[in-house]
Amino acid sequence: MSNRVPLAVLVSGGGTNLQSIIEATRDPKYSADVAVVISDRPGVKALDRAREAGLPTVVVDWSDYDDRGAFTNEVCDAAEDHGAEGLVLAGFMRILAPAAIDRFPGRIVNIHPALLPAFPGAHAVDDALAYGVTITGVTIHFVDEQVDHGPIIYQEALAVMPGEEREALQARIQAVEHRMFPVAIDALARGRLHIEGRMVRWEQA
Ligand code: GAR
Repeated sequence: MSNRVPLAVLVSGGGTNLQSIIEATRDPKYSADVAVVISDRPGVKALDRAREAGLPTVVVDWSDYDDRGAFTNEVCDAAEDHGAEGLVLAGFMRILAPAAIDRFPGRIVNIHPALLPAFPGAHAVDDALAYGVTITGVTIHFVDEQVDHGPIIYQEALAVMPGEEREALQARIQAVEHRMFPVAIDALARGRLHIEGRMVRWEQA
């Protein structure tokens, strides 16, 4: 029997991070499993990727809800119904209500395409370029009650090349995401990530 930790992966779009997690789970030594893929909208590529990998999918359509709490409960119910013990926000472009943290305490992680606390929100790559920063990067963090705020699990910096186009920068950011998000999720599933105030201590393997 597998002793992998089942997790729900929440998506909204292309699902390249989901794909990197799916590929990581093909390693028998990997410690997490994707129990279900939950999207906030129908028809996105991430759902096709999930189906191609034979994973269960659920759409909790944001446009069907007029309150964040009800939407959040439905997402959490769908995750729990599939046995998920934590939530992985992989390009999920909705803010969950605090109830999600009560239901999955210390077990919700997010990936963000900038060095938080710089450039929170849904347009981080554009915002960083518009600001003219010469360093940006990737942040993987626990989710808390505030948006793009929880304790930082991992950050990696990238230099912005002079005149670099958005697409080129985003591709380099995503390459970091695809390399490191599966690593962080494996550490989470192994119980190796310890939240100590604002800090996250990685217990050595
Ligand atoms: C990723 O780059 C992720 O960091 C970003 O959305 C992209 C989703 O790509 N997330 C945010 O901006 C969250 N504020 P993907 O669907 O191909 O994984």
